[in-house]
Amino acid sequence: MLKFAPQKCKYMYDNNPTLLSLDKEINEARQGEALYFDGIISDGQKRFYIESYGCQMNFSDSEIVASILGEVGYSPTRNMEIADLILVNTCSIREKAEDTVRKRLEVFNQQKKSKPGTMIGVLGCMAERLKSKFLEEEKLVDLVVGPDAYRDLPNLVATAEDGDKGINVFLSREETYSDISPLRLDSNGITAFISIMRGCDNMCSFCVVPFTRGRERSRDAFSILSEAEDLFQKGYREVTLLGQNVDSYKWENPETKKIVNFAELLEMVALVSQDLRIRFSTSHPKDITDQVLYTMAKHENICKYIHLPVQSGNSRVLELMNRTYDREWYMDRVSAIYRIMPDCAISSDIITGFCTETEEEHQDSLSMIDWANYSMSYMFFYSERPGTLAAKKFADDIPENIKKRRLNEIIALQNQVSLRHNLADVGKTFKVLIEGNSKKSENDWKGRNSQNKMIVFPKKGDLKPGEYVFVKVHNANSATLLGELVN
Ligand code: 5AD
Ligand code: SF4
Repeated sequence: MLKFAPQKCKYMYDNNPTLLSLDKEINEARQGEALYFDGIISDGQKRFYIESYGCQMNFSDSEIVASILGEVGYSPTRNMEIADLILVNTCSIREKAEDTVRKRLEVFNQQKKSKPGTMIGVLGCMAERLKSKFLEEEKLVDLVVGPDAYRDLPNLVATAEDGDKGINVFLSREETYSDISPLRLDSNGITAFISIMRGCDNMCSFCVVPFTRGRERSRDAFSILSEAEDLFQKGYREVTLLGQNVDSYKWENPETKKIVNFAELLEMVALVSQDLRIRFSTSHPKDITDQVLYTMAKHENICKYIHLPVQSGNSRVLELMNRTYDREWYMDRVSAIYRIMPDCAISSDIITGFCTETEEEHQDSLSMIDWANYSMSYMFFYSERPGTLAAKKFADDIPENIKKRRLNEIIALQNQVSLRHNLADVGKTFKVLIEGNSKKSENDWKGRNSQNKMIVFPKKGDLKPGEYVFVKVHNANSATLLGELVN
């Protein structure tokens, strides 16, 4: 089985639940309260346990769910055994992601046998895709709640508490949860996600998202701004603006009728404080404008990093994928990024073995990795999803062994290019936001530079997570930079 380096692959969550690995002490210190109760014996309070899979948006949604459940007396636990309500926030993007969730549901049902009355709920994209099938055929769950129906959770949970099944999978054209203050479950107290839009109107032929998350809608710019200000007040120093396609963010102020676009939103959030870093994800090559690039260049605190998924380096395959750009258009956007921000890092998503892809077309994806000089990529082989345009129109005709061989070639090249990219940083000094102890040693800090590269460096003096420091890089591998503090 193919594996990607975990630290490099957000979609690794396909087979790796969040487990809400919160650093309790930092969180208690920063939020002034213990978020989790992890005791062995329940204290009588109603508890929920949640696992999240899929994209960052799903992780962000779980924090909205936690906030809504809090209002009806449920608080979080990381100990499934004491939970009254077990939730799984699911992803449908590839078949493997769904298989993982099915296995987890079996585990949850085992747990239910030892604590009868425990309710089990499926949230998110898989709930939306499979709807009542979960209740009728699989009989493994008590609740099925789609991504736009979380406000209904209190009613649905009450229904399940009465022993009935609760389901709501209505997709909305308006819901953005803009007034809900997320409960920061997985927080290091330094970095946080802010959801700025929901849904997707792009209809890439391989993708299930438009079916599971519905139509695109943008959140009130002022609610985004106040969430950013609130986070900054609480000590957070980095926010990532999230959406399936952030560059098509567009919100009309109902009073002035003025439209706020993504570049303008970025600027508004950047002005919260020089000390608040701004990141965003994901950009679509067809929509990213020079206005966005110039706004990034203008503000030091907007990070010089763009995730710009190419999917394929070949124009014919891109057309079959319905990406609405070709290789030349993509290259023009990458050139514009490097022209306007020479120090910007770019990362990508790449799919191998899409329907009818030839060896030569696969070579075009390889050459794109080298030419675009991606600092990293998330790489997948094509997984046909029921109901998508590609599933309806094209045969999934590349044999699995070829898909995987091509994927291996893509991964091997990307590793080389990432190493090259990182070695080019040796000798440079970067401003780094300290996030916490490095994974390997309590004697080292870890933090990211503007280009989203993780830098590990030995502790010195009296520093804390959330502070900015300057670090000179003296060595690197394909995933991490190693450095020393500079006075
Ligand atoms: N098969 C494989 N990868 C997919 N992605 C989306 N749909 C599929 C699919 N059917 C990848 C794309 C996308 C990322 C989130 O997941 O690269 O950008
Ligand atoms: Fe998975 Fe896409 Fe849904 Fe995110 S939006 S959870 S990546 S299917």
